[in-house]
Amino acid sequence: MTQRRADGWATRFGLIMAMAGNAVGLGNFLRFPGRAAPFGGAFMVPYFLALVLVGIPLMWMEWTIGRHGGGFDHGSAPGMFHRLWSNRISKYLGIFGVLLPAMVGIYYIYIESWSLGYAWQTATGVYWGQTSNEEMGQVFSSYLGMDGGFFSFSPQAYLFFLITFAVNVFVFSRGIERGIEIVARYCMPTLLVLGAILAVRVLTLPPVEGRTISDGLAQIWRIDDWSVLLHSDVWIAATGQIFFTLSVGLGMVHTYASYLKKKHDITLSGLASCGTNEFVEVILGSTIAIPAAVVFFGVTQTQAIAAEGTFALGFFALPVIFQQMPWGQFFGTLWFILLFLAGLTSSMAMFTPLLVFLEDELQLTRRQSVCYVGIAIFLLMHPIILFMHHGMVDEIDYWMAEFGLVLFVAIETVIFTWVFGIDKGWKEMHLGAELQVPRIFYYIMKYVTPVFTCGLVVWWFYDSFFDQVLMRGVDPASRPFLWVARLMILGVALFLVWGVWYAWKTHPKFFEPIEPEIEEEAT
Ligand code: ALA
Repeated sequence: MTQRRADGWATRFGLIMAMAGNAVGLGNFLRFPGRAAPFGGAFMVPYFLALVLVGIPLMWMEWTIGRHGGGFDHGSAPGMFHRLWSNRISKYLGIFGVLLPAMVGIYYIYIESWSLGYAWQTATGVYWGQTSNEEMGQVFSSYLGMDGGFFSFSPQAYLFFLITFAVNVFVFSRGIERGIEIVARYCMPTLLVLGAILAVRVLTLPPVEGRTISDGLAQIWRIDDWSVLLHSDVWIAATGQIFFTLSVGLGMVHTYASYLKKKHDITLSGLASCGTNEFVEVILGSTIAIPAAVVFFGVTQTQAIAAEGTFALGFFALPVIFQQMPWGQFFGTLWFILLFLAGLTSSMAMFTPLLVFLEDELQLTRRQSVCYVGIAIFLLMHPIILFMHHGMVDEIDYWMAEFGLVLFVAIETVIFTWVFGIDKGWKEMHLGAELQVPRIFYYIMKYVTPVFTCGLVVWWFYDSFFDQVLMRGVDPASRPFLWVARLMILGVALFLVWGVWYAWKTHPKFFEPIEPEIEEEAT
């Protein structure tokens, strides 16, 4: 039915690299150390539990939902949910799977562009000589133009933003096989090599004031204080990190999986992409920022730096450290190139659900959808860039990548396991499977994952929803800007509601109930 069907994954390696690239991102190198550092080794207990009990099952579910929906020419969650549950609201619930990645992508690309800008600044030694975290904090603020004016704007940051934006649009305009797959096939191995070089560099650091690299690694891998596990914060932080790092609950995996053919393996490929992401996060990601910071600054200061925010370790502390090591400019440049590549392989996935929604459901051509999406994200990025200092990124991040993500994960889990039915889902997942998933996962998917994810939604409501809605603790001067962020989200959401309504009204045949023989084949 759609032009999209002509596109698809050319090779299995390309698919796994693209899926792994979708997952491997800034979250692995910036968010993970920032989340883990405050809790010490205890963080890894809920982290691994969440990986097994919700992360991997969700990954398999999303691959399955995606391939199943793709079989009906639906490349985004509204159509996919409609095929799982032919109730009039299911397609509207699927809107989350288009809204969340697009809104996250809007600020994510900007952050990705900082990495490119910092790679340039490091290679040319622009900030060399700023050797404390405070000074690097100022370098960061001035790079973003956050020096007290009404706008946060700097020509340099804007230039790198334009380059990054153009690269992203170019890649996704070329589609899956000629764009996303090619980039993933080259960027992912490069990223792994860069990560390995940096990890070895950190592992061979000499002691500083008696602090060794073993002390640094212990900060991640040794549990000194088990009582940390009695607090909900560490569980929520670890689970949120698993969702974000695997890119589950964002609708991106669904879209990539929709390009699979009916008998393409899901179980082994899904596990392989998950494993690649975890290797990058747990082995490479955890070996760079935190251990290096502990060696140079000690545990207490590392925790204080991490508490300053997601970017403090990567953009303040590491540049200080690189300045103190031989060949620091070289390693520093590699670090920021690594971040840029990690960001690119994720951001290029973030707009695909919206692009294919426009193509599949609203029947636009690829050229039209790229053009409209390109213009829309370019415009929506500007308030974020210009009013960065008012916390618009944090506001969108909360609603989309934290609360919205958890809500979407709960919805899709319930629809897949309880409404579509885990028995049908399990069969669908094993069509063409090269790995028989151990039966215990059937029960985990049936009971643990949905209960866990629904429980998380309740917890989010209880813990922070109302504080966030009412903007408690927010500087009154920033409130209007946070309202702008909310209106942006609302505007895109309303457009998608209209889009779903319009699509189902204008070509209802496309959405007709599943033919019995098709259903037979699908299950
Ligand atoms: N999974 C992506 C990341 O970790 C979104 O950045």
